[in-house]
Amino acid sequence: MPTKRSDEPQSVNRRRFLGASVSTAALPFVGTGLNEAVAQPVALAHSDGPVSAALSINGADYRLGLDIRTTLLDALREHIGLTGSKKGCDHGQCGACTVHIDGVRVLSCLTLAIAAQGHQVSTVEGLARADAPLHPMQQAFVDNDAFQCGYCTPGQKSLIALDATVTVAGSSGVRTIPFAALHRLPGATPSVETVLASGDLITGFNIQAGPWTRRSLYLKIRDRQSYEFALASAAVAIDMVGPKVREARIALGGVATIPWRSREAENVLAGKTLTEPVAEAAARAAFADARPRIHNGFKVALGQSTLVRALWQAAELEG
Ligand code: FES
Repeated sequence: MPTKRSDEPQSVNRRRFLGASVSTAALPFVGTGLNEAVAQPVALAHSDGPVSAALSINGADYRLGLDIRTTLLDALREHIGLTGSKKGCDHGQCGACTVHIDGVRVLSCLTLAIAAQGHQVSTVEGLARADAPLHPMQQAFVDNDAFQCGYCTPGQKSLIALDATVTVAGSSGVRTIPFAALHRLPGATPSVETVLASGDLITGFNIQAGPWTRRSLYLKIRDRQSYEFALASAAVAIDMVGPKVREARIALGGVATIPWRSREAENVLAGKTLTEPVAEAAARAAFADARPRIHNGFKVALGQSTLVRALWQAAELEG
């Protein structure tokens, strides 16, 4: 049952405000007073109702009535209808929401809409003029059915488990690298997450079909239904003859700084009949060397049960 937030104003509650704002949200602001409008400081103190925000997006001006806490990403997607900027993680970690503000790359999920007033915001929709052919970047997304980031997608764990390779085009030509070698452990340079160099572009993933691909799945456990990283995840691919595992491939997510292939669990499963004790033994082997920190110790048990569940679900797939 929905509960009313005690901090909602009595006269304009959040739901009523949102409903009322939908009809006016996408109207371009017309007039010459934009600069004067944005020059006024926004009253931050105790602003329970909507505030007026004047934004310049892709060369068009908009005046919106916004909850003062509205992020630039939500203003773009929910109020203006520009959905090219994606809400991948909503935590500032994936980059799917990236826009340019005055030509500088910014994560719009971490930027308040009101902070963008007086600046020029450019989104992916603004890369080409309305009547012009698509910008090469836009066309590439269409041609390749691309996500904007893919950082947190199931693919990463699955690609590790399936021994995929990655085709990378860069300044020195085209090269192929194992997907398992794409990510880097943090070490002394935690800001460098992959082996990709500046200007490199991933142009393809290659997955060899094999008997294990018939029973393969990805299971993601998270705090909420959408827009959330996995607390724990498992990608499994198993080749079975009857109840017996001929070969298993296992990758874990949400439990390490990179997608984690567990050869230990694979070895436990190989040649065994898949029973509950065997699945649990594989899960224990996968986490035998885990070194949790004070706040994430729960991930060991969660990761183990996620893997056990994924194994059972994969085993039930049509072989
Ligand atoms: S970084 Fe903004 S949605 Fe992921």
